[in-house]
Amino acid sequence: MGIQISPSILAADFAQLASEVESISAVADWVHVDVMDNHFVPNLTLGLPIIESLRKASSMPLDCHLMIDDPDRWAPAYAEAGAESVTFHVEAAYAPVRLARELRGVGARAGMALKPATAIEPFADLLPELDMILLMTVEPGFGGQAFLDIVLPKIRRTRELLRDRGSSVWLQVDGGVAPDTIERAAEAGADVFVAGSAVFSADDPGAMVQALRAAAEASSPL
Ligand code: DX5
Ligand code: ZN
Repeated sequence: MGIQISPSILAADFAQLASEVESISAVADWVHVDVMDNHFVPNLTLGLPIIESLRKASSMPLDCHLMIDDPDRWAPAYAEAGAESVTFHVEAAYAPVRLARELRGVGARAGMALKPATAIEPFADLLPELDMILLMTVEPGFGGQAFLDIVLPKIRRTRELLRDRGSSVWLQVDGGVAPDTIERAAEAGADVFVAGSAVFSADDPGAMVQALRAAAEASSPL
């Protein structure tokens, strides 16, 4: 697939969501939607009704990142609402294999997210069940945090794992991705980049998406 950019609307103006999404629709690959429940993370954002509205307002593919407890119960509804990709946190899932199969069964790509302190190695055998691994490069919960360089070795190890297993699973990074950090993440082997504040606080969000893509492509070993 090459390098993909998924701007996070967490940093957009929620009162203008349709036009904010429109501002990146010609240049971005996905729209990243951060669902937070004030339990799994100490913040509350948006949920299913917004996904349903976005689905109607835009033809951009939706990349739903569920930072919620009990994704086993709630995640499939996001796929049913039309999200093309649904990512749950492995720290919150009771039965990640069953959940990933259910998401795929509803026609969505199944993503599994890991917080910075969660190791990838115990989940190596789950790769065939998944379409994307999301490695958080901040502690989930808030936009605008600083990129955690301590995650870079895990990005490298995950890329090696995918290579060793001949896997085509996408490797997404999320948190603090900006012009000054994206090159490090790309060099380590990430291929899908979420960026919230970098994109939506830029004067020209579309131009920022293009700048991020160019920087990632220039540094990627893929
Ligand atoms: C954080 C969210 C991120 C966030 C990224 O918990 O999962 O998607 O919106 O925002 P920035 O790019 O500002 O770190
Ligand atoms: Zn996110």
